[in-house]
Amino acid sequence: MELIDGNEIASAVIEELSGRVAKFGNNKPCVAFVRVGEDPASVSYVNKKQKTAAKIGIESRLLVLPESISEEELLENVDQLNDDPEVHGILVQAPLPDHVDDRVIFNNVSPAKDVDGFNAANLGKLCQEDEAAFASCTPAGIVELIKRKGIETEGKHVVVLGRSLIVGKPAGMLLLRKGNPGNATVTYCHSRTPALRNHSLQADVLIAAIGRPQFVTEDMVRPGATVIDVGINRIPDETKKSGYRLVGDVDFEKVAPKTSFITPVPGGVGPMTVAMLMANTVKAYEQFSSPG
Ligand code: GUN
Repeated sequence: MELIDGNEIASAVIEELSGRVAKFGNNKPCVAFVRVGEDPASVSYVNKKQKTAAKIGIESRLLVLPESISEEELLENVDQLNDDPEVHGILVQAPLPDHVDDRVIFNNVSPAKDVDGFNAANLGKLCQEDEAAFASCTPAGIVELIKRKGIETEGKHVVVLGRSLIVGKPAGMLLLRKGNPGNATVTYCHSRTPALRNHSLQADVLIAAIGRPQFVTEDMVRPGATVIDVGINRIPDETKKSGYRLVGDVDFEKVAPKTSFITPVPGGVGPMTVAMLMANTVKAYEQFSSPG
């Protein structure tokens, strides 16, 4: 079993991006974050993203809007950022309040600035295998881990547990593409899949993105498989000062010994999400500077 160290690979990506940004001279890429309300996880994620941006030499802006903001007002703020020539990337942090339709918001981010890859235009381009598309950051991070570890996907069976628009669906789509990584046979499983274990046992690469703590147990994994754990779940732990600890969607202790490669939680996919957001921002800047 080999651990896939997301921190180490994310650092390598960040270093490469710093080199690319240094070549831009005084012209820096700029990403704008929009945070609605004070959800502690969102505050912490956006903070982390801003810190990483600063490390690379990417400028960032933060717009904090009240939880009570209307959909229309939020759209006006997004539009201002769409029209601002000094902003190359826009990220509207999810989750959004219930009275706001997040699809409407994501679809109104200019496709050229949609560094999250959440809007319909970018998802469509991803299906068309258009290299100019922005792929959403967590799936792009999974692919980068697979690529940098030299894990073969061509002709292999990838089983994705989860069908979310942000992780599951695009992760399968990326590995289905003609390319390397890619050319996989992809199966999607979800909460309505009967006998899910029959599918997961067929996986050469198993991607767990279902948001259920330690859902994947050792009897669900084929010996020698690669396991990518996308889950970030809090479970009570009295031995911790905070009273909780983070676990993935995989029962790591039991599953790890059976695998060829596995990502830990934390320190696996998580750091890659931030790194790929930065990669998308640099890409947005480059496409803005040399369109076509
Ligand atoms: N909330 C949790 N993860 C993400 C992400 O990658 N992008 C955005 N916009 N919101 C999130």
